[in-house]
Amino acid sequence: MRTIRVALPKGRLGEKSYAVLARAGYPCPEMEEENRRLIFDNEACGVRYFLVKPSDVTVYVERGAADVGIVGKDILLEAEPDVYELCDLGMGRCRVCVAGPAGFRDDHTRPLRVATKFPHIARRYYSQRSREIELIRLNGSIELAPLVGLSDVIVDIVETGTTLKENGLAVLETIVPVSARFIANKASCKFMGEEITAMQRALLAGTGA
Ligand code: PRP
Repeated sequence: MRTIRVALPKGRLGEKSYAVLARAGYPCPEMEEENRRLIFDNEACGVRYFLVKPSDVTVYVERGAADVGIVGKDILLEAEPDVYELCDLGMGRCRVCVAGPAGFRDDHTRPLRVATKFPHIARRYYSQRSREIELIRLNGSIELAPLVGLSDVIVDIVETGTTLKENGLAVLETIVPVSARFIANKASCKFMGEEITAMQRALLAGTGA
C-alpha cells in the first residue's frame, strides 16, 4: 500500500477533517496529543499528515509535496492552483463579501478603496463591474480598515457575521458562498488514484456531504 500524503490546514477545519479521517480508518494518535510537530505518520494505515497554514495547502498539493489536501474554496478562487478539485466537503461554510459601514454609498467620482487579503477575488469582482478600485492588501483584522479610514470597504470572509456586527459594519454585497474542498495533485491522481478515491469516499461518508 502506498502512503498518501495529506496537507491539512491548521485550525478548526483541519481538526474537523482529521476527526472524520481518523474515524474512517486514517487515525494518527500522535495528532491528538498537545505538541508542535508538523508531520504525523501512520505507516500501518498508509497515511502521512502535514499541518500547514490554510493558504499554503494549495502550494503543497500543486507542487506534489502532498498528494491531497483540504482547503476553503475562497483560497482556491484566490490562488487558482493547478490541482484537481475533487469534491465539496460541505464543511466550513461561509461567504466572501463586500462589507462596510451600514448604509455605505459608493462615490463613483473616485476609485473605491478596498482592503482585503483576497486581492485576486476583489480585482476580478470589481473589474467585472467596471468599477475602478484602489486595492489595499492586508493580512488580517481586515475589519479595522474602514473603521480607521484606511479603506472605504473590505472584501472578506463572513461566517457568523459577529466580527462585522461587533465593529459596526454590515454586508453590502455577497461575492460568493464558499466551503471546504478536497483537492489532489494531478500526477498523484494518476499514480495513486485508488488511494485517493478511497480517502475521498471516507471523507464524504463522514461529513455527510
Ligand atoms: C475571519 C474573517 C473575519 C472573521 C469572520 O478572520 O477574516 O474576520 O473570520 O467570522 P465571523 O463572521 O464568524 O465573525 P480570521 O479569524 O481568519 O482572522 P484574520 O483577522 O486573521 O483574518
